[in-house]
Amino acid sequence: MEKTYLMVKPDGVRRQLVGKLVQRFEDKGFQLIAAKMFRMTREQAEYHYEEHKDKPFFGELVEFITSGSVFGMVWQGENIVALSRAMMGKTNPLDAAPGTIRGDYALNTGNNIIHGSDSPQSAEREISNFFRPEELAAGDYPVRMPGSLANDKVIPV
Ligand code: GTP
Ligand code: MG
Repeated sequence: MEKTYLMVKPDGVRRQLVGKLVQRFEDKGFQLIAAKMFRMTREQAEYHYEEHKDKPFFGELVEFITSGSVFGMVWQGENIVALSRAMMGKTNPLDAAPGTIRGDYALNTGNNIIHGSDSPQSAEREISNFFRPEELAAGDYPVRMPGSLANDKVIPV
């Protein structure tokens, strides 16, 4: 089953949006298989944002993401990478449609509330930066999937 790494950034944690954001992904039909509140180390932050290391905002980005606690999560579900990115909305909240997370809660790119992996390969890399394999739940609890409301369905990891 496809997995992704979603993370409420320090601005979202400070604004106490964690519960609302978890709810959105549960409502969509995705399955939460790991989550924790933690403060990212500088090394983890630099690795996480490695693709941006030559950009002018890299220093500011690392400062911001290590400025407070984040809520890191591993989720799984069908097409979760693309669907969760669509639910998050465009990177710049000015371009993010109302109804998306950034469209509903964010004002600027530097404080855009949430991170989501941009490919299954990035997800694997990001998950291993923050979670040990044994921290991931087996993913074997029964989930009622949209479209199969009559039956509980066990989704294998
Ligand atoms: P993430 O899910 O956070 O990776 O966002 P994204 O994939 O939509 O955007 P991208 O990977 O291109 O950029 C990563 C993050 O860097 C963004 O979410 C922003 O928080 C931040 N960022 C991008 N561009 C800028 C910028 O011009 N200024 C600042 N301060 N931050 C930026
Ligand atoms: Mg990105």
